[in-house]
Amino acid sequence: MKNISIGLIGLGNIGTGVVRLLEQNEKLITRKLGARLVLKKVADIDITSGRGVKIPKKLLTTDARDILNDPDISIVIELMGGYEPARTFILDAIKKGKHVVTANKAMLATFGDEIFPAAQKKNVDIGFEASVGGTIPIIKTLKESLAANRICSIVGIMNGTCNFILTKMTNERKPFDVVLKEAQELGFAEADPTFDIEGIDTSHKMAIVLSLAYGKKVRLKDIYLEGITKISAQDIAFAGELGYRIKLLAIGRLKDDAVEARIHPTMIESEHLLANVNRNYNAFHLVGDASGPVFLFGQGAGMMPTASAVFSDILDSARNVLKGISGRVPLRSINETGMKDIRLVPMDNVETKYYFRFTALDRPGVLSKISGILGAHDISLATVIQKAREEAGAVPIVMTTYKAKEKNVRQALKKIDRLDIVRDKTILIRIEDEL
Ligand code: HSE
Repeated sequence: MKNISIGLIGLGNIGTGVVRLLEQNEKLITRKLGARLVLKKVADIDITSGRGVKIPKKLLTTDARDILNDPDISIVIELMGGYEPARTFILDAIKKGKHVVTANKAMLATFGDEIFPAAQKKNVDIGFEASVGGTIPIIKTLKESLAANRICSIVGIMNGTCNFILTKMTNERKPFDVVLKEAQELGFAEADPTFDIEGIDTSHKMAIVLSLAYGKKVRLKDIYLEGITKISAQDIAFAGELGYRIKLLAIGRLKDDAVEARIHPTMIESEHLLANVNRNYNAFHLVGDASGPVFLFGQGAGMMPTASAVFSDILDSARNVLKGISGRVPLRSINETGMKDIRLVPMDNVETKYYFRFTALDRPGVLSKISGILGAHDISLATVIQKAREEAGAVPIVMTTYKAKEKNVRQALKKIDRLDIVRDKTILIRIEDEL
């Protein structure tokens, strides 16, 4: 039986999961592959701490070049994360004709336009199933299963930390700060949670997903982005009253030949599948023009779920090694030479429904002033909620709208927030009830 040598750079949580999965399912993997995967070297800056997996000492190294320079290793698994030296290691592996498997979404979203063409030129694979949605096979679904479809829309919950926080805020009616602290104590949120709660992690994943869905280059800075830090328990309660739940959604939608690409907290009908994706789970709701709706759900992070996705790529590359082929499936769903810049719908032109929470004095004429400005900007109201005041001062006034244009909404809110009866900046949350 043939041996295929692999090298692992980065023995953190996911790297350890990959070693464990090989240990755990070695016989099954060998049967499925028809060859033996041999973990030839493992590189990490820390090779002394125990990880609960058996790795012979002689395989361990602190120098990734021991893997990159080993001609026997045909697949390099990069699980160190970060931009550098991960980017340099990957480019070096490509140069040496090695297939690469990575979970590094930040690096691919930023340097993909350098890495993918280089890999195509050298006829090597870049496997990145684990970079988006953890264990969920979203990359393969876009590249292979739905390959013949125009993707009408792709809407995802792509960040487990945000989903965990929003779920807890909804179920336990607690404020954002309290829930974030609890999430950190439970290990669901990082000590510095900025990347997650500001939506940056989601934007990296979204850039990758959109490039596959549309076979186009997507620049991170062009994706509209709002995180979840401004979501309050009060808005979650009003959302419930209106029959909605709030989720951090990444929304990609085909509009003629352009694509909407936006990430923001969104109210969705509480019956929708995405509204019921709770805790740290991720999910994707896609609509293909031929397939119709497709829903994918699973663990977006975690040692073994992510290792499972890494392994699907290792096996793909190992099968190619056995057959002496590569490039059967284009790396980003179309040939790299055909990758053009994506045409995005400017956020100002997006049309959706809105939820507004005004903080205004409870006086005669207040509602008509606010609704007058909205009407003058072509914004039509669907519902209005105002609770009787319990004490002197401002009260929340909640309005939802029919579809309106983002540009008109911004202009109207600017005027409303300048009114002397308005005491706080108006809260805006977009509503998507036609997913
Ligand atoms: N920080 C990410 C999340 C983990 O919370 O979903 C994997 O990308």
